[in-house]
Amino acid sequence: MNNPSFYSKQHQIGRVGSTDVIQRYFYLVKQNKRKESTIIDIGSGPGNVIHDVLIPHFKSPVRKVVGIDVSEEMVKFANATYGNEKFNFEVWNIENVVPKRYISFFDYVFSFSTFHWIKDQRKLFLNINRIMKPNAQMLFSFVAQTNLFDIYQSVWRRPEYAPYIDDFYAGQSCFQKSKEPLKEFQTIIENAGFKIEMIKMEVNTAKNKSLVDFKEFLISLSPYYHKMPDHLKENFMLHHLEQVQRDTRVESPNNYYMKFNYIIAYAKKKEIVENKAMLY
Ligand SMILES: C[S@@+](CC[C@H](N)C(=O)[O-])C[C@H]1O[C@@H](n2cnc3c(N)ncnc32)[C@H](O)[C@@H]1O
Repeated sequence: MNNPSFYSKQHQIGRVGSTDVIQRYFYLVKQNKRKESTIIDIGSGPGNVIHDVLIPHFKSPVRKVVGIDVSEEMVKFANATYGNEKFNFEVWNIENVVPKRYISFFDYVFSFSTFHWIKDQRKLFLNINRIMKPNAQMLFSFVAQTNLFDIYQSVWRRPEYAPYIDDFYAGQSCFQKSKEPLKEFQTIIENAGFKIEMIKMEVNTAKNKSLVDFKEFLISLSPYYHKMPDHLKENFMLHHLEQVQRDTRVESPNNYYMKFNYIIAYAKKKEIVENKAMLY
């Protein structure tokens, strides 16, 4: 997950990525052709999605685009590749204190395939509320549940790998075990001061051409592959791969697949947020 060029190459496999969500749901975003807007992408990774896919959808003038990511490597790559007067990428963990310059600053918030990394969802949405102007809009998607997170649990806890794992829940949705993830999530964002205009859970399936493709896909998503010592890396991935399901109806060795349950939502910041909700 810390390798920007590798990640950009891999992440669209199976169309579980952000492009698909943007193409199908950007129409919900309302634009004001007479006003310049400010935009943020939370968890912008290598920066290709916001730069190449999202911003071209804007027909209204854009003043400032900020991509934030907790990974220094991603931000460095994004600035070197796409940074200019309008586009700026910054290292910022969205769970941390909001910089003063960004309080009530953004007209639009976007985030794709990132919120499952955030453990404290309530704090996440209170922070997002703070950076948005009243009535500002947000569109996002993230993985709420997937078999991959169960695979992480079983592989990471093996005695040969466990010493290298400092957080057994890194990169995994806190809704993984929830019986009603959509309902639970909806309550969190409404309490954080948002009016939801569209929310749904969708299944996306990653189907890959070969086992090698699938291996690279999982490496690009793994929070720990790059932290494993070299002599363990190969087996670490093989232990993941041996748990990936195969579609036996497909008569081909390339019948590996993985399902991802995505939550996709479009919401607006409410004009008035109760003071109580803002305290944390
Ligand atoms: C799966 S990538 C998604 C990248 C891009 N949005 C896309 O759709 O291709 C998730 C990104 O979120 C970043 N991330 C994880 N936790 C974060 C946090 N607390 N604050 C900001 N970024 C975070 C990771 O470093 C990673 O680059």
